[in-house]
Amino acid sequence: MRVLERLDRLYAIGGGPGANRPGGSPEEDEAHELVAGWMREAGLEVEVDPAGNLFGRLRGRRPELAEVWTGSHLDSVPRGGRFDGALGVVGGLEAVERTGVQDRSLVVVAFRDEEGSTGPGCRGSRSLCRRGIDPTPAAFVELHVEQGPRLEAAGAPLGVVTGIVASARGEVVIEGREGHAGTTPMAQRDDALVAAAELVLRLRDRAAAVGGAVATVGCLTVEPGASNVIPARVSLSVDLRARDDAELEELCAVVPGELSRTSAVELAAGPRTALLEQLAARGLPSVELVSGAGHDAGVLAAAGVPAAMLFVRSLNGGISHSPDEHTAAGDIELALAVLAGALERLAAAGDD
Ligand code: GLV
Ligand code: MN
Ligand code: MN
Repeated sequence: MRVLERLDRLYAIGGGPGANRPGGSPEEDEAHELVAGWMREAGLEVEVDPAGNLFGRLRGRRPELAEVWTGSHLDSVPRGGRFDGALGVVGGLEAVERTGVQDRSLVVVAFRDEEGSTGPGCRGSRSLCRRGIDPTPAAFVELHVEQGPRLEAAGAPLGVVTGIVASARGEVVIEGREGHAGTTPMAQRDDALVAAAELVLRLRDRAAAVGGAVATVGCLTVEPGASNVIPARVSLSVDLRARDDAELEELCAVVPGELSRTSAVELAAGPRTALLEQLAARGLPSVELVSGAGHDAGVLAAAGVPAAMLFVRSLNGGISHSPDEHTAAGDIELALAVLAGALERLAAAGDD
């Protein structure tokens, strides 16, 4: 299957184990170049915007009609999976090639640095929305793996996303005082790592107390970083998610310092309905779910683009941001058919 072969080509770029294409890296550039080549092969007009986002345009015969967009991102977390982001770009291209749309223009987009290797995430789509998308597309539909266990548990290959949770990210620095590990009595220490550990546990407890919220500390830098020196300074990353902005604030209250917040967002009724109709037409269960992961579709939705997302079942218990991420070829085939059908419908809507 061509989509799987292309995902393998992208997966091989970082050299493994896992996908290694952090935003802003030469590996992300290489992925964009590879996909630009596939876009050209498919007859799309390729364009790169000032943020490095890649667009492949299938020009319709009526340029006065608004474009319909699909796509996702090509960067990955370190040791990431084969499907996160890449499926939405490669699968979006495949779906566009399968549509018989002649009139409205279809666009495949690959956004830069969605994972936030250098910041709060979705750098490419945020930059695009800050500059303004003119003209606004009629719809953006992002295909993505679920990255969680719910579709697998429901026995459903596909799901339609209703909205994306609120999130906050940032770095916290905790200062202590260095000293000799052997001679400083416990009562006289100001150990920055002990304070950091207490913060991690407070975050865990607050997230557990706020229903459905999650808190993660994934990076920790300890200075000066020697086994016989009491830690004097610790920086730690904080990643908080909650169902709505009010619950997110309950988590943020635990963190000293500034966090960059992204509000919860609801996805648009029009393209969501187009996806649900495609599921129904194929006799597939109509599962709707909220996304706990952030996505470029959320950024576009917040900027006023009618955006929707189609999730494909993640296997292996839904594991993601891991080389164990897995989705079955048969589920991807179904997703391509549903995406192509929805893009065709959305392109036909207003074509009167
Ligand atoms: C993107 O993968 C995120 O961290 O939600
Ligand atoms: Mn992703
Ligand atoms: Mn991701």
